Amino acid sequence: MVVMVVVVAAAEPISWTGNTKRGLSFQSENLPTDDSYASLYLTSNMTSTADLSMCVWVKVLHFKESSSYLLSYATSDLNNNEMNLAIKPSQLMIAIGGTYLHQKKTPLTYLPDVWYHICFVTSQQDSRGTFYLNGKKSTSFKLPKRDILLNGSLTLGQEADKVNGGYQAQQSFSGIITGFNMYSRQLRGEEVEALAGCEVEEVEGDLVGWRTAVWSVNGDVTQVDLSVEEYCTPERFRFTVFPQRRKYTVAHVFCTKLKTSLAVPKNSEENTALYDASVILVERCQPANHAFLYFWLGAYEMDNGIWTDAKGSRLNFTNFDDTTIKKSKNCSGFKVPPYTENWDQISCTSTYEFCMGCEEVEPTVLKMRGLCEQYLQSTYLRLEQHKGQMPAFRGFTKYYISFDGNHTWSLINMWSSEAVATYFTYESDLPLGRRDWRTTADFQLCDKPAGEKHLLSLSACYDHEYTCDEGTCINLTQRCDLRVDCPDNTDETGCDKLSRPPEYLHSLPPPGVELGPLSLNTSVTLKGFSQVDIRDMKLTVDFSIIITWFDLRLRYKNLKDLSDLNFIQPSLVWTPSLELVNADFPNTYKTAAVLTVVRQSPPEEDDPRLPAHDELYEGSKNPLRLNQKFNAPFSCTMDLRNFPFDNQHCSLLLRLTSARSDFLRWHKMTVDYPGEVLLTEYEVGKFSIDRQTIDEYSVARVKINFSRRYGYYLLSAYLPTVMLMIISYASLYCKRESRDLRVMMALTTLLVLYALYQQTL
Ligand SMILES: *[C@@H]1O[C@H](CO)[C@@H](O)[C@H](O)[C@H]1NC(C)=O
Ligand SMILES: *[C@@H]1O[C@H](CO)[C@@H](O)[C@H](O)[C@H]1NC(C)=O
Ligand SMILES: *[C@@H]1O[C@H](CO)[C@@H](O)[C@H](O)[C@H]1NC(C)=O
Ligand SMILES: *[C@@H]1O[C@H](CO)[C@@H](O)[C@H](O)[C@H]1NC(C)=O
Repeated sequence: MVVMVVVVAAAEPISWTGNTKRGLSFQSENLPTDDSYASLYLTSNMTSTADLSMCVWVKVLHFKESSSYLLSYATSDLNNNEMNLAIKPSQLMIAIGGTYLHQKKTPLTYLPDVWYHICFVTSQQDSRGTFYLNGKKSTSFKLPKRDILLNGSLTLGQEADKVNGGYQAQQSFSGIITGFNMYSRQLRGEEVEALAGCEVEEVEGDLVGWRTAVWSVNGDVTQVDLSVEEYCTPERFRFTVFPQRRKYTVAHVFCTKLKTSLAVPKNSEENTALYDASVILVERCQPANHAFLYFWLGAYEMDNGIWTDAKGSRLNFTNFDDTTIKKSKNCSGFKVPPYTENWDQISCTSTYEFCMGCEEVEPTVLKMRGLCEQYLQSTYLRLEQHKGQMPAFRGFTKYYISFDGNHTWSLINMWSSEAVATYFTYESDLPLGRRDWRTTADFQLCDKPAGEKHLLSLSACYDHEYTCDEGTCINLTQRCDLRVDCPDNTDETGCDKLSRPPEYLHSLPPPGVELGPLSLNTSVTLKGFSQVDIRDMKLTVDFSIIITWFDLRLRYKNLKDLSDLNFIQPSLVWTPSLELVNADFPNTYKTAAVLTVVRQSPPEEDDPRLPAHDELYEGSKNPLRLNQKFNAPFSCTMDLRNFPFDNQHCSLLLRLTSARSDFLRWHKMTVDYPGEVLLTEYEVGKFSIDRQTIDEYSVARVKINFSRRYGYYLLSAYLPTVMLMIISYASLYCKRESRDLRVMMALTTLLVLYALYQQTL
């Protein structure tokens, strides 16, 4: 297939020498503009193609707030999305033939300053489009059948809304592109893999070939020379050198805080790189008292003379010089000049303080909370260092945090070239953790005027972690768990569970979650019946009431599974008041009410605009639970006509007095009696609870049935009576002459019966 690429505008000279390749660098200063682009008109001897493949190496320098467009292709002003490729930290997005396809979102898939090889391959035959990331198949999509015209205009670095125009600064690209090739066929998986692995000489694209295509370049675009190693080496030794002196254990903990480990070179190139970066700081890093070392290394000696890295895997490279090997010193460091690159052993518990470097195990992304940014990616930062200087933090989009060398850190908005806040520190240490910054520009940070205090939190903590005030990360479940986990104890501060809006009125009952009155669920547990007083017709009951309801005006913080830990001061919120309608008031006892929250829903989505990561729970999904114990005599009309075969029905009336039943009503009610059913005289029968409305107030009625245990009466009164009757009746069968005996027996029976009744009553 013969394809030619037509030179449209003033041609750039093609540079392609040996192992280097040209790259185009867009907006290297991170100043978004709509006039930085490289473009060309596609011409081919074909008018259209059904199969299309496109591959590119890309390194993003700075993201835009939503999407950065690597390239766009328009065949007419109407068809301006014939091919687009956009990138943001969470996903890639492509348009092909006007159809937008999104890769599945995962936070932090794409990082700034990292090279990615991206291919997109469409095939009409099975009408699918497939993404390849670094040679591996990533996502595949169904595509509508549509041929792509081959007479359009291709733009790198901008998103065209018409042919060769309609660019927007916030959609532009800041980064480096190389190896862009477009093919009018479907690349096979192996071909893509070979391209991404730099195993083969790159096959020039027939529609656009990177070596031959001539781009017309406009605005902030520069041509750079790249070596294959630069973009094709996946794992690099990425470290940051810190010019503060620390003891070994402190240095170790410091690197962990940044999700890194103490740097240790794995080969002599890395050794040279780390030495070069650190030796500039030797003046600051060498302790005053003639130590021979100035810099901690992450190499650690096991008992058997084997040196390992932080993870415990054996090091293949060490650089001790033989003359100074000392036994039983199991840490290591760089020796001061005039030695170069040499290591020496030193005890880990040494009181010497040296500088150290932290090495990224996985790419370290720091997050800044409290910035009031709409787009999450604007709050992400990476460590960056210029040789011999204090490390800085480079934001994914517009922020930059740098040190002025003299106690002050500045938060800079690169897009407006303005410092928006500063942080002053005597220790000249990193501004990690939650700190009070001071705004320095009007209405640039959370709409605050200049000179205000503003709390910002900077840490490398993951989303499931809580950042302590001094920057350490702990598991979110350890926040407010009544146990101190942060080195500075700050995980147990600010643990108030209640988040109450300022306009909250605790005298008003909350509205119902659905339309209508607020529903209260109750569960009554009868603990025992301390007295059944037949004479005064009173039933004394020990019971506890649990009332649950939703207060949708409230939110709760850091709820725990065990609801006893979610305690809330009852006076701060509305609680229902309860009247025991038929109780004998002077003799009613009750405990103080205990108010807790039951966690029933997952927390709301985290809001990174708040400086602390507290889990928030909605009041409309997590009920409040009021628990109170009572002891009260209830009046109960007892019917004794059938004694001792009587059944008594008593009820407990619980009235909600806070508001009328069109505001408040009992909803689900349960009653339970876990205690002994057989009392001395009664057996507790069925109990139930139902709802009534009395005088427009909702009343819960607990009904309890008692049946008398007549067995006792049968045994102690009826049976002896019957037997005595039988005996006295039997005396009638005595001979008539024994009148005395018959009288005696009748009298004795009478006396015994009298005594028996006296005793029974
Ligand atoms: C490409 O060709 C189509 C029709 O063949 C035409 O409508 C369109 O304007 C052309 N596009 C450009 C950029 O010339
Ligand atoms: C040392 O070399 C071996 C074999 O090449 C390798 O498996 C191991 O990971 C290396 N160790 C380190 C710490 O790089
Ligand atoms: C956090 O702690 C909880 C309980 O100790 C544990 O189940 C969970 O796995 C931890 N989460 C992580 C990510 O370590
Ligand atoms: C009350 O009970 C009903 C039915 O079981 C349930 O749907 C509702 O969520 C409960 N309300 C509260 C506040 O627990």
